[in-house]
Parts: sequence; structure tokens; C-alpha cells
Amino acid sequence: MSDKKTGILLLSHGSRLDDGEEVIKAYKEMYEKEFPEIPVEYGFMEIREPGIPETVKKLNSENDLEKIIVVPVFVAHGLHTKRDIPGILGIESDFDPESIGGHGHHHHHGHDDHDHGHDHGHHHHHHHGHDDEKVEFDGEIVLTDPLGIDTRLYEIIKDRVSDAL
Ligand code: NI
Repeated sequence: MSDKKTGILLLSHGSRLDDGEEVIKAYKEMYEKEFPEIPVEYGFMEIREPGIPETVKKLNSENDLEKIIVVPVFVAHGLHTKRDIPGILGIESDFDPESIGGHGHHHHHGHDDHDHGHDHGHHHHHHHGHDDEKVEFDGEIVLTDPLGIDTRLYEIIKDRVSDAL
């Protein structure tokens, strides 16, 4: 652990429904309670406010940070964590555009597995021309892995099943 004045950004995907915000807000409050000396905020990849640049701005303006740790509270890596979030944060990524047979620029990602119903004209940030939505921060930014494969999550899966049996 460094001596740098560090802030934490807990990052959720973003949805037009409130459920996701309730969850990420609860984790933010848990973290705040356990580590009251460490500034923490939550923000969203897309669809919902606050987005990443404004959350970084808020964290930094209130705390004058030297380092920000961004934790994507996602289960697994995907294009957002490998490509879009590093792009917005302005940091390096090991994402290889060839891995999806694409050419790497940020275009509309048409996944149908979640809430991307796009009421265009409202919160359609990050689906078009991300270049105007970059984080402004002079310090160090670390993007962690998502939650991943962990027996603590597996326990929850088993609870869900047993509750439904
Ligand atoms: Ni998405």
C-alpha cells in the first residue's frame, strides 16, 4: 500500500432501473463504514448518471487525490472492462481488437443481455463517440479485475439454488 492519497471508484454497469444503483450504493456505504478515511464513490459505465468522468471529478475535487482505484463490480471481464472502461479512464489495456474480429473503435455494442434499450437522446453516453467523455485526472489510475471466480461467490450461487428448491 502506497502513501498516496487514494480514492476508490466502485463501478457498476448502469441501468434505467434502480436496482443496480441500490446494490452499488450499498457496497459503497459498507466500504465507507469500514474504511472511513478512504474516499469512495460509485459510478456507472453507461446509461445512468453519474458516469465515470464525473465520478472521478467529484472524488478528486473533494479530496485532491494522487491515485484512484477503479473496481468494476462486474462478475467477469467483457468489452466494457477490457476496452471501454480503460478507454474512458485513458489507461492501457491488453484488449486485442482482433479477439472479437473487430477493428477496435468504439461503436454501438449491441448486446441484448441487459438493459441497453437506448432511449437515444437521453443517457446514451458511451455508445457513440467516447472521445468527448474522457477522465481528467493527473494522478495514477488503477483498474482492478472484476469479481471473477471465487468460492465466496459460489456460496451465493448455492444459496440461491437452495432457497428455490
Ligand atoms: Ni453495456
